[in-house]
Amino acid sequence: MNHFLDIHTTDAADLRGMIDNAAAMKSARKGLLKGMPDADKPLDGHMVALIFEKPSTRTRVSFDVGVRQMGGQSMVLSGNDMQLGHGESIADTARVLSRYVDLIMIRTFEEATLLEMAEYATVPVINGLTNRTHPCQIMADILTFEEHNGPIKGKKVVWAGDGNNVAASFIHAAGQFGFDLTFTGPEALDPEMGFVEEARAKGVKIEIERDADKAVVGADLVVADTWVSMHDAQSARQRRHNLLHPYQVNDALMSKGNDDALFMHCLPAHREEEVTNSVMDGPQSVIFDEAENRLHAQKAVMRWCLGV
Ligand code: CP
Ligand code: NVA
Repeated sequence: MNHFLDIHTTDAADLRGMIDNAAAMKSARKGLLKGMPDADKPLDGHMVALIFEKPSTRTRVSFDVGVRQMGGQSMVLSGNDMQLGHGESIADTARVLSRYVDLIMIRTFEEATLLEMAEYATVPVINGLTNRTHPCQIMADILTFEEHNGPIKGKKVVWAGDGNNVAASFIHAAGQFGFDLTFTGPEALDPEMGFVEEARAKGVKIEIERDADKAVVGADLVVADTWVSMHDAQSARQRRHNLLHPYQVNDALMSKGNDDALFMHCLPAHREEEVTNSVMDGPQSVIFDEAENRLHAQKAVMRWCLGV
């Protein structure tokens, strides 16, 4: 069963195949972004359930549109409106949904929920973000980097800020796609060291540098994300802002990286907090290509899951 649960647990050749397939599907639709199905409809007759236990704009719309472009049908379900949000077990939900649909995407809190869904579903399950990882986002980010600046293998990515779920998937991708990654942020918000060690064991450099200016030297890509994630307690907001303020991505920081370095953010952004408007809207920013590429990358992920 091809579940897409995480980047580090998915075969590296398969990941590369998905990125290449996403690029090919995107290029086949040039000029037809809106208003048209794909010429090829590999999801014809397939039904996809998209379950959200947290808010979403990009994941929700890009999965829904992607399914439809490929000739399938989708239903967007809010966890709260399902019995799942009122005490029905994840295992029973997985077994019931598997009788109706061909593929399940879930955005949830605990990773254990995703894993239980995958264990009991008899159809593929896709991770649409948990507190711990966000693999679909990074597939779109790899596609975006390579469209702009060529192969990501051997490049240097700098993650500035919180060592959160999106950072974790970037670290996984470093090991699988063969690029180096420097994390710059406060020690209290370091990424999971187990993920760092695992990527290092695959032969890439994963560095931790507390000085943001030093970290960005030689960067081919600088990435930021919100300082307070959806699963973080609001009571921790001020402490996080204080800790993360020195890691804001601004023009001065970007100027320390390579001239052709790109800036990415998975969005939603908190402008003038983790990143300034000048960087978000500046010439190095590819944030809206990233958002578009969620669509193309996830289409390839869904095809891989379904083997179509
Ligand atoms: N980047 C991302 O996953 O955005 P949404 O929360 O809007 O889905
Ligand atoms: N780290 C953020 C990503 C949102 C797409 C969060 O989990 O809220």
